[in-house]
Amino acid sequence: MQFDIFTLFPEMFDGPFDASIIRRAREAGQVTIALHNIRDYATDRHHMTDDTPYGGGGGMVMKPEPIWNAVESVLGFDPAGRADVPPIILLTPQGRLFTQTVARELAAHERLLLICGRYEGVDERVRQYLATDEISIGDYVLSGGEIPAMVIVDAVVRLLPGVLGDPGATVNDSHASGLLEYPHYTRPAVYRGHPVPQVLLSGHHAEVDRWRRREALRRTRLRRPDLLARARLSQADREFLAQLDAEGDE
Ligand code: ADE
Repeated sequence: MQFDIFTLFPEMFDGPFDASIIRRAREAGQVTIALHNIRDYATDRHHMTDDTPYGGGGGMVMKPEPIWNAVESVLGFDPAGRADVPPIILLTPQGRLFTQTVARELAAHERLLLICGRYEGVDERVRQYLATDEISIGDYVLSGGEIPAMVIVDAVVRLLPGVLGDPGATVNDSHASGLLEYPHYTRPAVYRGHPVPQVLLSGHHAEVDRWRRREALRRTRLRRPDLLARARLSQADREFLAQLDAEGDE
């Protein structure tokens, strides 16, 4: 899978893409990440990438030409109005909310283009006529789209087939099934007087699975009841939740 990231600060990406899973995926050739400096595509003498807003007011707005030129140059054609283009995603707090479902949707593409906005904003014509999608990573404002782009690359890359050693590794992830994940334990069996739940030491796989499912339900009910409302639940799940409600489990 290929990512093309358009940014005024390519150096921000040096650390996060050079370690751990993303580094391995790049080295294995499973992922290519190309960083494109928007400033390189400015056409004026001073390589200006922003300007004052029409209509006045404070702040600066990113100019459309350097961004558009950069995307056009990297794709080799002007994508505007064409259906056969990879997603061109503008990172903005006004976009649709990034979730595990969106990560899975993006992981199905061969190529993604990510445009990192900066300053007060990006000229509206980039959003309207160049971008095919707008994504926000949460209801807070960051100083630019660079960190959101890193978040998206990380979440998508770990979903690609063969990137994590164990093909089932993402199945139980929090949010993968619409629930938060069950708690994890490793050795020692008793740490500072706190024991690991007995069932996990029992070797009864069916019992362990049942305990994990129930703990995922218990945890999601307490922390994220909004997720429970949308999760796919079995009859046994619903009975367990009803039991927790009856007990007033906190
Ligand atoms: N740019 C600034 N804040 C952002 C956010 N929350 N998500 C995506 N892009 C952003």
